[in-house]
Amino acid sequence: MRKLNIALTLSALFVLTACGGSKDYSPPADASGEQIFSTACTECHKPLSANVAMILSEKVANKDAIIKKFQGGSMRMPAFKNIQGESADRLAEYILANSEVK
Ligand code: HEC
Repeated sequence: MRKLNIALTLSALFVLTACGGSKDYSPPADASGEQIFSTACTECHKPLSANVAMILSEKVANKDAIIKKFQGGSMRMPAFKNIQGESADRLAEYILANSEVK
């Protein structure tokens, strides 16, 4: 029983560290916002339809907040520190133009 507990604890730790944290992904300089989104984000954020990439809460539905979110991450979302400058602008603009606000 004790061994099983240790195994369960270890796998729980692994699951926790597998999410969150940070990702080293760097977009190619000429990648569009849509390309960056489909490469880096759809693993977790499955588009709802062809024109709806995400559902945004009202407080995140602006460019600055979106950029802050993907650069800073959260408990459950990795930080994408290498999406910067124009790539970050393009990604945030793509999301804003293709999301529903709830
Ligand atoms: C490993 C899974 C994962 C990946 C990869 C991921 N996210 Fe997230 N994201 C989450 C989770 C879970 C949440 C909800 C919890 C939270 O807000 O922290 C979230 C929340 C968000 C929010 C806030 C939505 C709201 O309305 O509060 C935005 C914006 C966002 N992600 C953008 C992105 C972008 C852009 C990318 C790609 C660069 C990305 N995410 C990649 C898991 C992920």
